[in-house]
Amino acid sequence: MQIRPYRPQQDYRAVLNAQCDLYKINFPRFVCTPAFLAEQAQRLRAAAKRPFENGIFVLEDGLDFAGFVWVAIRMDLQGTYGSVDQVYLQEAYRRRGLGKLLMDTAQAFVLKQGIKVARLYVTAENHDAVKLYEREGYTVTRLEMEKPLAE
Ligand SMILES: CC(C)(COP(=O)(O)OP(=O)(O)OC[C@H]1O[C@@H](n2cnc3c(N)ncnc32)[C@H](O)[C@@H]1OP(=O)(O)O)[C@@H](O)C(=O)NCCC(=O)NCCS
Repeated sequence: MQIRPYRPQQDYRAVLNAQCDLYKINFPRFVCTPAFLAEQAQRLRAAAKRPFENGIFVLEDGLDFAGFVWVAIRMDLQGTYGSVDQVYLQEAYRRRGLGKLLMDTAQAFVLKQGIKVARLYVTAENHDAVKLYEREGYTVTRLEMEKPLAE
């Protein structure tokens, strides 16, 4: 098992294929359409051209793609931060401590850019992800609240 920087030629298809699964797990009403995939493909191509702003790391098991992490350097009113945008393991690789390896790699990339804060969004029902982030030391700083409206 090894973790290494994303290689567009080799990894593009696997990272793109993971997008539908990632969104389906996190957004129950999500439908994976060709338009969505085209948009993700575009994002991925653009990110690969900006390697200092986008840390994409692939976990491989021999020749098999096991998962990846994507952290982007962003700036907002609170300053510059590392945004852990996507953390993904193929099902067979979950619950083996590999999520932590992906997170540690993403955080090391952010620190290497001289940035001391990492931030992320997670769906509250995604318990495995929430647990991983809490174990990694993330705490809740803002809440997105929702209420279904009856007609
Ligand atoms: C989110 C995700 C990356 C978490 O991965 P994970 O493998 O569960 O996380 P960890 O690497 O921290 O593994 C921890 C679990 O493995 C267990 N484990 C088994 N062997 C282990 C080992 N050798 N070392 C550490 N933990 C081990 C731990 O006890 C822990 O189980 P627990 O949660 O019941 O306490 C994974 O569930 C995933 O890819 N989900 C789909 C995509 C997704 O939703 N991503 C997040 C939103 S972007």
